[in-house]
Amino acid sequence: MAHRILVVCLGNICRSPLAHGIFESILDDDFFVDSAGTGAYHIGNPPDSRSIAIAKKNGIDISHQKARQFKPSDFDHFDSIFVMDHQNLRDVISLARNNQDLQKVQLLCDVEGLDGIDVPDPYYGGEQGFEAVFRLIYKACETLKKTF
Ligand code: 4NP
Repeated sequence: MAHRILVVCLGNICRSPLAHGIFESILDDDFFVDSAGTGAYHIGNPPDSRSIAIAKKNGIDISHQKARQFKPSDFDHFDSIFVMDHQNLRDVISLARNNQDLQKVQLLCDVEGLDGIDVPDPYYGGEQGFEAVFRLIYKACETLKKTF
């Protein structure tokens, strides 16, 4: 059965759509990838135009994605849940129902060389923030791929 990966940030419009698109672009059909936000602010919205732009610049189309909110049943439907920062980690962990749920949750950057740093929220910054966030997420996804 396919390995099912969920990536999570706060709004599901800036960071996790990038991780979603990057994972889809580097993983084969044995993987199913989705993304969600811990917050409800942007449900149904497409990714932030700055995320769409930086993804496009790197050959990845994320424009069709639609934001949704993380829900406890996601623990049943995914094998691995990667969160962007420590606040996301606390928020997702607070919804875990048992130890099996907990064990699925990990910081995206909890990989060799990135030492569990946060993927910073680029929402209130400029284009440059999205460049840096794209590069960081790409590096984390590539490193994680070697562990799957
Ligand atoms: P994201 O960025 O968590 O990477 O999608 C954010 C987008 C929107 C908001 C916060 C973070 N917001 O507060 O509306």
